[in-house]
Amino acid sequence: MGEQYDLVVVANRLPVDRVTDADGSCGWRPSPGGLVTALQPVVAERRGAWIGWPGDVGSAPDPLTVDGMRLHPVPLDADEVAGYYEGQSNATIWPLYHDAVEQSVFRRDWRAAYREVNERFARAAADLAAPGAVVWVHDYQLQLVPGMLRALRPDLRIGFFLHIPFPPIELFMRMPLRTEIMQGLLGADLVGFQRPGGARNFLRLARRLLGLQPAGNRVGYDGRTVTVGAFPISIGVAEFEALADDPTVQTRAKEIRAELGDPDTVLLGVDRLDYTKGIEHRLLALGELLEGGQLSSPGSVLVQVATPTRERIAHYRDLRDRVNGIVGRINGDHGRVGQPAVHYLYQSLPRRELVALYLAADVMVVTPLRDGMNLVAKEYVATRLADDGALVLSEFAGAADELPQAYLVNPYDVDALKETIVHAVHAGPAERARRMRAMRRHLRAHDVDRWADTFLTALGAAHR
Ligand code: ADP
Ligand code: F6P
Repeated sequence: MGEQYDLVVVANRLPVDRVTDADGSCGWRPSPGGLVTALQPVVAERRGAWIGWPGDVGSAPDPLTVDGMRLHPVPLDADEVAGYYEGQSNATIWPLYHDAVEQSVFRRDWRAAYREVNERFARAAADLAAPGAVVWVHDYQLQLVPGMLRALRPDLRIGFFLHIPFPPIELFMRMPLRTEIMQGLLGADLVGFQRPGGARNFLRLARRLLGLQPAGNRVGYDGRTVTVGAFPISIGVAEFEALADDPTVQTRAKEIRAELGDPDTVLLGVDRLDYTKGIEHRLLALGELLEGGQLSSPGSVLVQVATPTRERIAHYRDLRDRVNGIVGRINGDHGRVGQPAVHYLYQSLPRRELVALYLAADVMVVTPLRDGMNLVAKEYVATRLADDGALVLSEFAGAADELPQAYLVNPYDVDALKETIVHAVHAGPAERARRMRAMRRHLRAHDVDRWADTFLTALGAAHR
């Protein structure tokens, strides 16, 4: 018998991606996205195993240990990356679950690849889980895994957590794979969502699609009881606070402001370059504010950091072209030599540099059109140790439920977005401190460790 674990996390990606350098040597670098940021401290602390894809094409590397986590790579070949990851996960499910802000593409061969790869993940989990172990399956790429794993290993406690929104019935019903997905999710003992609305949508669908009779937050399925609930995810608050308190990070923040030309106001955006993040809306609002004179350049600058993501998918390529165009237009109209109005970085940055940017920013602008949670908003708040700075936050991010003291806005309404940005830019220190203090207090009491404890405790209770 091989290695076995009492806690096995199953997610599409490992916390590190395998990269091949120009000289052919292999290395590892942190993978993108909020799921990895949130889960890494949770799995490391609990010495669990993590099953996931190493982010490239080809055979799987051997299991490895990183920061106390045992990583078990699951390989994908080129067709599987195209069908399961880029296709069914990110061109069918991702847009549909995000309010259909882009059109989903539905293809039979993608569905087949999704099934096959989900089966591979389920088998890997079945092999690695000790008798009676807890297996925690994550996110939209692996919605069939709980059901498949239940069939292989009925002894396990199986939890599922969805990091992205779970859509209303009208949208979900479009999906050809809808019944299988519901049955797959119902293989878990506990199904968790970011917001109560997602949990409600799921229970309604169980009734509508499968004819089940939910009672409260429970629903009977296949002779078992499945518990459903909302578990808003968070960040390792202490870790971000420690970085913000580090003198070298603080010095770097001052350097950044100097490099930007010591403007009166630094606005900041940090996102994966995803069409759900409302980056275009943010840039258009900024362009109009500069045009109308409510903000001026070089007095105000925007730093927009965009992490490369899913670059082979058409929606993402098109978005990149559009963002390049808008940034070019704003800088062409409002920049001066050595003083662009928008500093645009299409790069992934080390966490220390990211925190230095958070410290350098007077106003953080987070404007997703739909987002499961949005950890960037929480990271900004956690690092404002002096209770200064202002957070402009979309109503359509899960984080808005927990951070009502942010400057909340509907990003589809350009005038409202402009007004809110101006309000945040001009807010006095007392108002900013009042808002920031309340948000920091909430986060300190609701960090990612508490999230994991709450979920795992509920899973223990649900299984019994
Ligand atoms: P999503 O999961 O959709 O990417 P979140 O805001 O929840 O969105 O999480 C994004 C995570 O990725 C955060 O932890 C953030 O710090 C990190 N991140 C975002 N952009 C960058 C970047 N350019 N470089 C490094 N990390 C980044
Ligand atoms: O929940 C957000 C999320 O989609 C994760 O599932 C994912 O790991 C991350 O963002 C980054 O996306 P990707 O893995 O497709 O690069």
